[in-house]
Amino acid sequence: MSDHVNLCEGELSAWLQGAFQKAFPGELDSFVPRVLPAQDAKFGDFQCNEAMGLAKQLHKPPRQIAQLAVDALPMPAMLTKVEVAGPGFINLTVNAEWLAGQLEKLAAAASFGIPQSGAGKSVVIDYSSPNAAKQMHIGHIRSIVIGNAIDRLHRALGYRVLADNHLGDWGTQFGILLKGYRECLTDEQRANLTVADLEQAYVASAGRAKTDEVWKDACRAELVKLQQGDADDRALWKKFIDISIGEFTRMYDRLDVHFDLWRGESFYNDRLAGVVKRLQDAGLAVESQGAQIVKFEEEGLPIAIIQKSDGGFNYATTDIATVESRVEEFAPDRIIYVTDERQQLHFKQFFRICEKLGCTAKLVHVWFGLMSYQGRAISTREGNLIKLDELLEEAVKRSLAIIQSQKPDGMTDEEQRKLAEDIGVGAIKYTDLSHDPTTPIDFNWDKALALDGNSGPYLQYAYARICSLLDKSGEEADGKLLLDSPIEKQLALSLLQFPGTVQRAADNFKPSMLADYLFGLSQQYSSFYQRSPVLKADPAVRASRLRLCSLVARVLEEGLHLLGIRTPRRI
Ligand code: ARG
Repeated sequence: MSDHVNLCEGELSAWLQGAFQKAFPGELDSFVPRVLPAQDAKFGDFQCNEAMGLAKQLHKPPRQIAQLAVDALPMPAMLTKVEVAGPGFINLTVNAEWLAGQLEKLAAAASFGIPQSGAGKSVVIDYSSPNAAKQMHIGHIRSIVIGNAIDRLHRALGYRVLADNHLGDWGTQFGILLKGYRECLTDEQRANLTVADLEQAYVASAGRAKTDEVWKDACRAELVKLQQGDADDRALWKKFIDISIGEFTRMYDRLDVHFDLWRGESFYNDRLAGVVKRLQDAGLAVESQGAQIVKFEEEGLPIAIIQKSDGGFNYATTDIATVESRVEEFAPDRIIYVTDERQQLHFKQFFRICEKLGCTAKLVHVWFGLMSYQGRAISTREGNLIKLDELLEEAVKRSLAIIQSQKPDGMTDEEQRKLAEDIGVGAIKYTDLSHDPTTPIDFNWDKALALDGNSGPYLQYAYARICSLLDKSGEEADGKLLLDSPIEKQLALSLLQFPGTVQRAADNFKPSMLADYLFGLSQQYSSFYQRSPVLKADPAVRASRLRLCSLVARVLEEGLHLLGIRTPRRI
């Protein structure tokens, strides 16, 4: 069987496989030729470049190999032209009717033919994972949005996904926070506690601890009390976490993001001593100045401290315990972490430790470049720390202004507000997802909300325009596909790339691959639409074009949903 995800490539590959085997009997028994979409429509619809790689094994020039293969079997009905070109490319042009049939097959398949390659497998995706008791700001958006798209892509491929929000809910900062809560807030703040208050308490207390030794000791004492299970401190800690979760959840709801698990760092607390013990037993952890450390001499990485000299455990220790627990409970094939680029060393180190301990899951760190705003890093000091809440509100406000400027007749205020929410939130998400995760992003309002260019609203608009065309036609859009102009054929070829694109985006942990594809598809659609009348065409052509439009709409809809972007039918 071929390993092609896409239907057409699979069938073309099967034919070529037979041809190669016939031309070179006994020499290419398990060889599966790769077929790719043509790089340039001038040369056909698909191409196979394998002859070049076979030259050595077959002791023949690649062009001759390609020619012998294509001459070995009669040209099948699905093709109209087979050509050997250049150093040995095999260019394939397919028959429009066959192509239409392939497209119909895909349309009849569940989720437009997305392969169920993850069936029977599970994957844990650790994303967002913010630190509790801090407000979410613009710097938090990337992990949420990229993580959620990776989550959706895996679900679509049939994986059992466990989206796990690994909250930073434990550690030294809670001693500082407890002290700050008791001493730096008003009674009223304490009575109606918000995450903003907690952040204020933390900042005030941490500042004080820098200059005041007595204060610092008091913070430490609070931490010890908390760790020893003091009832009051525990109850307060629980309250801080619940308030944080409540506020984060409001944000996630707005972003259509939902977690299966909320296991913060504290969940793994009881396992930490065991991790250190196992590392010592395995000869991986050694003592150094009273601390337990792991060295990475072979890997050329700096050491990792897994237990401090005061007995406290570190971030890495918790992460190792987390992997062990996840593997025990879920036996995942993959555990994917989505954080910013600054944590690369941490992940390299603890992944390596897990491997040495015999971890069976594939551990993947998807890191992303930092977000800046107006060319400057986002930080409290720069004073450009836009809160996530405010970011979303501003996006919605700007979208609403655009909607209203277009005088939307017959839309109630509430409908306009709902539409603005879909567009504004979609714009923010798409800005992020259209970039390869590793590229830094300088956030720009005009670009994010632009109705042309590579933006969320552009894609939503393309979808809505097709919906309105279909509505206007008053037909079912289930006519027979003819695909008799080059642009229609191109559009069909693109639609057929959808399942493979979803697979690739998931396997590379790059939702941007799907975003690029959808943008390309909508551009193609718009050149098709400019050149080809739909409603005014002759009945058979009209029916075919409506069908094609409806398939484009369906792929845009499914694709945008995989990116977590809503698709209003009317804009
Ligand atoms: N809480 C961390 C932060 O805000 C991110 C945690 C990522 N996940 C993990 N398992 N280390 O930077």
